[in-house]
Amino acid sequence: MRRGRTLGALGAAAGLLLAAGCGAPAAPDGPDPHSWSHPEQVRVTHLALDLEADFEARRLSGSVRLDLDRRDPGAPLVLDTRDLEIRSVRDGKGRPLQWRLGPARAGLGRPLAVELRPETRSVVVAYRTDPEAAALQWLDPEQTEGGRHPFLYSQSQSILARSWIPCQDTPSVRATYEATVRVPPPLMALMSAENPTEPAPDGVYRFRMPQPIPAYLMAIAAGELEFRPLGPRSGVYAEPEVVDRAAREFAETEEMMAVAESLYGPYRWGRYDILVLPPSFPFGGMENPRLTFVTPTVLAGDRSLTALVAHELAHSWSGNLVTNATWNDFWLNEGFTTYIEVRIMEALRGKEYADMLRALGRHALEEELDRLGRSSPDTRLALDLAGRDPDEAMTDVPYEKGRMFLERLERRFGRRAFDAFLRRYFDAFAFRPVTTKDFRHFLAAHLAKDDPEALEEAELWIDMPGLPEDSPEVVPEAFARVDRQFEAWRSGTPADRLDAGGWNTQQWLRFLGHLEDPVPVDRMAELDAAFHFTDSANAEILGAWLRHAVRSRYRAADARLEEFLLEVGRLKFLEPLYRDLSATEEGRARARALFERASPRYHPITRAAIRKILNDAGA
Ligand code: BES
Ligand code: ZN
Repeated sequence: MRRGRTLGALGAAAGLLLAAGCGAPAAPDGPDPHSWSHPEQVRVTHLALDLEADFEARRLSGSVRLDLDRRDPGAPLVLDTRDLEIRSVRDGKGRPLQWRLGPARAGLGRPLAVELRPETRSVVVAYRTDPEAAALQWLDPEQTEGGRHPFLYSQSQSILARSWIPCQDTPSVRATYEATVRVPPPLMALMSAENPTEPAPDGVYRFRMPQPIPAYLMAIAAGELEFRPLGPRSGVYAEPEVVDRAAREFAETEEMMAVAESLYGPYRWGRYDILVLPPSFPFGGMENPRLTFVTPTVLAGDRSLTALVAHELAHSWSGNLVTNATWNDFWLNEGFTTYIEVRIMEALRGKEYADMLRALGRHALEEELDRLGRSSPDTRLALDLAGRDPDEAMTDVPYEKGRMFLERLERRFGRRAFDAFLRRYFDAFAFRPVTTKDFRHFLAAHLAKDDPEALEEAELWIDMPGLPEDSPEVVPEAFARVDRQFEAWRSGTPADRLDAGGWNTQQWLRFLGHLEDPVPVDRMAELDAAFHFTDSANAEILGAWLRHAVRSRYRAADARLEEFLLEVGRLKFLEPLYRDLSATEEGRARARALFERASPRYHPITRAAIRKILNDAGA
C-alpha cells in the first residue's frame, strides 16, 4: 500500500467557516475547486520573493512582488493564503492598495482579494509565515545527521504553497520566479531554481527560476549542506556526513537522464540535482524542478531503491512540463511518471528488473483496491475531489492503475508508436496544464485515430472503477523462484533451508508480500532468525517486515519499531504502521504514546495525517 489516507476531511469541516469577509464566496468558485484564485480574470506571471529565515521564531518573513496579466480589467487579484500574517499590500510604485482576507475554509485557507488600480501591473505583499505553517518543517540541530545546525525545508504539494507564499495555488497557473533569501551562516539555502554549490559567507542567496512552474513546485531548504557532482548536469546536496554515501547511491543519475531524453525529448530544466533531507521528510521523493527532494531512507547502500530517482526525474516531463490542470487529474502526473520510471529502470537494469517493479506495483494496487472497495469512485483514474483534501488522491490508483493503462496502450499499438505518441504529447502540452479530457482528445486525434475499439477501451480505463478484468499479471522468473520458495516454507521446509541466496530487495519484498497476517509468532521468529529482517538496513524491507510484526504481534521487533517510528517521517511507512497498531486496544495505547513522543519531530503533514488515523481509530 503506497499510503492511502482515510477519506473525508475538508467536506466535514465546511461548517468551520470563520469571520466572513464582505461579499467573499464561502467556497472557491473558480475553475479549480482547491484554489480561491480566478486566474481567468487576473493571472500571476512572475514572483519576486525577498525572505529571511528566522530559526528562533520559526518564521519566514519579507515580501513577494507578483507581476500580473490582467485579462479582465475590472477584476480584483485573488490569492490563496493559509495562516499567513499579511502586513501590507502595495502596488509596484509603493502605493497602498485595498485588500481583505475572506473566510477561512479548512485546508484551503483564506482568499486574499486585492483591489487593483487601472494601471496596476504588479503587487507587493509584505507578510510573514506562521510558526506552524503547514508546508514548512523547522528542525532542531538534534534532528539532523550532523547535530550542529538547524534545518528548514518546505513541501508545497498539493496545496500548501499558500502557507508560505501568498500565490495562485492551482496547478493550472505557472509563473517564473526570482528570490533573495537570507539564512544564518554557515547554512546553505536552496530552492527549486538555479542553485549555489558553496555556502555564502554572508548567508544571502539569490535565485532565479527562468522556466514557469506551478505553485506546488515552489520549494526552499536550508541547512548545513555540501554538494557533490554526479555528472555534467547533475549533482547531490546532503549533510556532510551523508553526501558521499548519497553520491555513490545516485551515481546512475546522468544515465537515467540520457535514457529519458532519448525517449521523450530534451531535458528542459538545465540542471538536475538531488537534495537528501533528514529522515522526517514525509515523502519518498518530491519532484521540485531542478532540485528533487528525497528521503534518506532511499540510501540502501546498494542502489536497490533508486527507482525513486527515476520516478522524480520522470516528473521533469510528466508533471513539471505537462501538468495536471487540477488535482482531479492527478493520474496524468503520477500514472505517466510511474510508467516512465519503469521504462527508465528497464533501460538501466533490464526487463526482468522492470517486471519486478511492475509486479510489486500491481500487488500494492490490488491491496489498495481491496481497501477502498473495487466499486469505489476513488478507484477511478479521473477523480472528483471537490470539497475534499486533494492528498486523498494519493492512493496507488493514480500511480499503478495509470501505469497499467499506459502499458495497455503500449501493448496494443506497439512500443515504437507509443513512444512517439508520448513524445508528441509532451511537446504539444509543454509548460501547459492538461485535463483528462485533453488527454482523451489527444489520444483520439493521434494514436487511436483509426481505432474506435481502442478508444472505447481507453474510455473504460479512464472512467470505470476497479481494474478491467483482462489486465494480465506479469510474473517474472525471478519472482516465480521466490514464489516456489515461499510455497516450500509454507508446506514445511524450515526457513534456514530455503534457497534464497542472492535475492535482491525486490525479491525479498515479494516474499514478504506473501505472508498472511497474523503469522504465528514462532513462524515470525523462525523467519527472523534465518533472514534477520528486524535488523535490515533496507527501509523498504524493514517497513514491510514491521507491518507484519505489528499485525502478528511479534513483540521481538518492538524496540526496532519504536526506533523507526521516532526517526522516520515517511508516510508510506508510518501510515500503515499506525493504522495497524490502532486496530487493537492495547496497540492504540502504544500508538498514542509513541505519537506523543514522535510528533514534535514530524513534519506538519505527517503530524496531521497520523493524528487523523489515531482520531478515526478512537485512540
Ligand atoms: N509528487 C509525489 C509526492 C506527492 C504527491 C506529495 C502528492 C504530495 C502530494 C512524488 O513524485 C511521489 O510520487 N513520491 C513517491 C515516490 C515514488 C517512487 C512513488 C513517494 O513519496 O512515495
Ligand atoms: Zn510522483
